[in-house]
Amino acid sequence: MRINSPKLNIMYKACMKAAKFLIRDFGEVENLQVSSKGPGDFVSSADTRTEKIIIEEILRAYPDHGILSEEAGNINQKNKTNRWIIDPIDGTSNFLNAIPQFAISIGYEENNQIKNGLIYDPIKNELFFAETGNGAFLNNSRIRVSKKKNLRNSLLGTGGPRSGSKIKNEIFHEFVEISKNVEIPIRKYGSASLDMASVACGRFDGFWQRELNYWDIAAGTIIVKEAGGYVDFLDREVDESKKRNLVATNSLIHKELLDIINKKNIEKN
Ligand code: IPD
Ligand code: CA
Ligand code: CA
Repeated sequence: MRINSPKLNIMYKACMKAAKFLIRDFGEVENLQVSSKGPGDFVSSADTRTEKIIIEEILRAYPDHGILSEEAGNINQKNKTNRWIIDPIDGTSNFLNAIPQFAISIGYEENNQIKNGLIYDPIKNELFFAETGNGAFLNNSRIRVSKKKNLRNSLLGTGGPRSGSKIKNEIFHEFVEISKNVEIPIRKYGSASLDMASVACGRFDGFWQRELNYWDIAAGTIIVKEAGGYVDFLDREVDESKKRNLVATNSLIHKELLDIINKKNIEKN
């Protein structure tokens, strides 16, 4: 593995330690205790343990760094310079239903700029990672976005809407409009981080989704950018970490996809 950055090293170590348990738990998925966290969202014991292991590893190396993690929330919030963003299991519903499409996602930002990202699919043993200026990798190989130029021939992914979404109809409407412009049916795999990783390595030509959380996509944004792709948000919000509505593509189909989305502009935030 060509990881020679201190931040990526920590991510890698933390992730591999947590993944051992996660793989075991996936095999025993029926036995996991699941408690309801809200509509369409569940937290499992595997989720919290994965998170705990990752947080411990990060804080061992950098005790004063900030952390934003899906289940634990904010840690060391007064540190405004260094922050780690963690989604311990992205694709929880897949995990809990024994569908092998989920990942650990860890991003690291400095002064609100994402610098490093790592997404690990423990079942396929696929490790996606990137650091600003150094390209994006899948295991030992450099990855690049696809070269597809036309939306019509593109393979797109999306996700949502959440069960409690207030813009469900608009999201479905947008889906219908985009689907009229592509020949291959749109994919919906249930793990936003892996959807972004798929754009980065050229499996998908583009991915868009509304109502995401920062931990779903923090690592993915740098991996897609470093793979030569384009990451864009539909929100007017200035702070990138508060943006929820994402479009990530190989850059060549970006305008075409965005034009359709903008024509059906459903949310003015
Ligand atoms: C979810 C997944 C899913 C996306 C949802 C996310 P979780 O994350 O990324 O693909 O459609 O919006 O909340 O809850 O499995 O960590
Ligand atoms: Ca997630
Ligand atoms: Ca999660």
